Amino acid sequence: MIYFDSAATTFQKPLTVQNAVLRAMRTCASVGRGGHAAAMAAAETVYQCRLMAAELFDAEPEQVVFTMNATHALNTAIFSVLSPGARVVISGFEHNAVTRPLHALRAQIGVAGKKLFDAEDTLRDFARAIERKPDAVICTHVSNVFGYVLPVERIAALCREKNIPFILDASQSAGTLPLSLRQTGARFIAMPGHKGLYGPQGTGVLLCADGGKPLLFGGTGSNSEDQAMPDFLPDRLEAGTHNVCGLAGLTEGMRFVRKQTPSSILRHEQALLAQVKQEFRGQENLRLFAGEGQAGVLSFCVDNVDCEEAAQALAQEGVAVRAGLHCAPLAHTSAGTADTGTVRVSFSAFNTPYEVRRFAQLCKKLFPM
Ligand code: ALA
Repeated sequence: MIYFDSAATTFQKPLTVQNAVLRAMRTCASVGRGGHAAAMAAAETVYQCRLMAAELFDAEPEQVVFTMNATHALNTAIFSVLSPGARVVISGFEHNAVTRPLHALRAQIGVAGKKLFDAEDTLRDFARAIERKPDAVICTHVSNVFGYVLPVERIAALCREKNIPFILDASQSAGTLPLSLRQTGARFIAMPGHKGLYGPQGTGVLLCADGGKPLLFGGTGSNSEDQAMPDFLPDRLEAGTHNVCGLAGLTEGMRFVRKQTPSSILRHEQALLAQVKQEFRGQENLRLFAGEGQAGVLSFCVDNVDCEEAAQALAQEGVAVRAGLHCAPLAHTSAGTADTGTVRVSFSAFNTPYEVRRFAQLCKKLFPM
């Protein structure tokens, strides 16, 4: 299979990740639930993951909270910062993992930055919206549909100036773009463990500048005599048994990223993207959504072919892509593709120029001009 759906999850994981999951399953019990060897092995395994994330994202180890996925992390962040009816500003490229919790809160949502690949316009829009002092600003780093890299450092700086809590959705950037909790001054940064960090599904990280409100209440292995959740991180936001095997894999995924370096993975993905654009040059029935500084995600439409049917035809030839609205109807509305959806290809460190070549040949065969 040619796997071009890494924006959903990276499917090819380093062997070290696979081995670590198995090792943890054979050696680890539950964190903080006993002083025996298997419990201590679990505690050490999870702590190593916390240390690795803290180092990679410039945070303190206790500011690293483990979640099930980025959606869980974003929900925790959103419900920590916003009350029902609150005023919030988001970008025009947010995922349902942001917009659905806001809908549930009946938040008053202002959308800033709807122009694809226009960072200056996005910034101007956010600057105007932030002047009106919203209760929070939430922004994705990279659009999961279009690979548009939003100017989040500068948006974060505007929020710092006005003392407005900033939540960064790093779902498509963790592992490829620089991320620092300290430098952005973000209140929260949410990310999956299973995409650009190459960990197993069921892992996610929430970086917390300072506290947060629990979404889940339960055992933490600490302060058990007290019915209130502990007031310290990470315990406050980590009720219940950890995904120890998943986190063992995530540690190795992050080690892989650190060794390759995020910037070289990004360069690799961008080179594949440039190759797709080159291969499709002159293919006028394919409309590519391409722009400056794009990360390793590309959407396209095929004239007179339904995007789901196009993806299905590619799947039958052994190419995995994702079509439709990609759980991000707002992004499609901003880009003008809400009625049609798009076909999306998204890369990882494991893709090759040969695969891009083969994909392009198949597209030309399946969707002739
Ligand atoms: N948000 C993920 C995607 O873009 C699942 O496919």
